[in-house]
Amino acid sequence: MKALILVGGFGTRLRPLTLSLPKPLVPFANKPMVMHQVEALKEAGVDHVVLAVNYRAEIMEDEMRQHAERLGIQITISQEKEPLGTAGPLKLAESILRDGEPFFVLNSDVICNFPFTDLIAFHKNHGCEGTILVTKVEEPSKYGVVVSDQETGRIQRFVEKPQVFVGNRINAGLYIFNPEILDRIELRPTSIEQEIFPAMAAANNLYAMDLPGFWMDVGQPPDYLKGLVLYLSSVHATAPETLAAADNSDYEIVGPCLIHPSAKIGRGCKIGPHVVIGPNTTIGAGCRLQRCAIFEGVQVKAHAWLHSAIIGWRSTVGAWARLEGVTVLGEDVNVKDELYLNGARVLPHKSIKASVAEPAIIM
Ligand code: GDD
Ligand code: MG
Repeated sequence: MKALILVGGFGTRLRPLTLSLPKPLVPFANKPMVMHQVEALKEAGVDHVVLAVNYRAEIMEDEMRQHAERLGIQITISQEKEPLGTAGPLKLAESILRDGEPFFVLNSDVICNFPFTDLIAFHKNHGCEGTILVTKVEEPSKYGVVVSDQETGRIQRFVEKPQVFVGNRINAGLYIFNPEILDRIELRPTSIEQEIFPAMAAANNLYAMDLPGFWMDVGQPPDYLKGLVLYLSSVHATAPETLAAADNSDYEIVGPCLIHPSAKIGRGCKIGPHVVIGPNTTIGAGCRLQRCAIFEGVQVKAHAWLHSAIIGWRSTVGAWARLEGVTVLGEDVNVKDELYLNGARVLPHKSIKASVAEPAIIM
């Protein structure tokens, strides 16, 4: 089976992290975001993944080549000359996708348990052109809202980013389609949500399957951290042996956390709940970390206190520093000792020498 992942877009909402890497390559739980999807697709029997890219294809290509070899699948980069939206890229990759079988299409910035095998079964069972996974959210206006028959799942209406309340079941950004969908799409910038789904719904050809378990679009920092909490809690319920365990009495781990084996954790640290620590990192003595992601090569000095923060690659957090309120440090940022950062978004390669008490972008 084949799959196409929409990995275009500039990832503006995930800045400053996306100033260093395209959004799909930004780590989530110590793995490039898109690899969570690619690995789940492989599990469901997909052997060829198309990555629909519209910028910086070189970086994607280098990184994905290694993963393709490791997983024993084919990964093709399909590069657009101009952004083709969320439907155009399917047409561009038509020669690969059209092989008589249904294929998957995924937004690249969503995280969940990816029930692809169940999705194939549901889709084949109704036999129509497409199936969308749907999930319930509290704030549906940021998403595509789906109104469907509760019994059969047939979609009656699809409304992208509704201004007025239509319902709270939304498009989770994970689809399976029969090849006929390609006949509906032209090779031009097209929104699958605004142009293709409403037409398919009107033709009674689009179905919704409820997504069991958690779901989050992790394309902006507050949601990235919410997604991390949900993800780690889910791993805690399904595969707790893969989570970090304090193997000595030097430091304490609270709740579900992931700590890369190469990370060095200082004496007297208290870590968790919901912390991810990446490779080649050093956490100094007596640090307190909660609800945060520490990327590769970061150094957190002794007695720092972090809550709701994302620390970008190779940054340094000073001793006794306090970071909170969804503070995000880009790549190679240096925060001096004893500073307080609240909701700061710091661009790459900056040195921070004064506290930031209120949310601000530091350029
Ligand atoms: N190749 C390519 N080209 N990909 C693109 C382009 C493009 O021109 N534009 C957007 N994408 C990719 C993004 O990288 C992302 O993976 C996906 O298409 C969706 O774009 P977003 O910008 O993340 O859309 P959204 O989050 O506002 O809304 C979408 O996702 C929601 C779920 O998170 C919609 O599909 C909503 O209906 C849905 O509810
Ligand atoms: Mg999104």
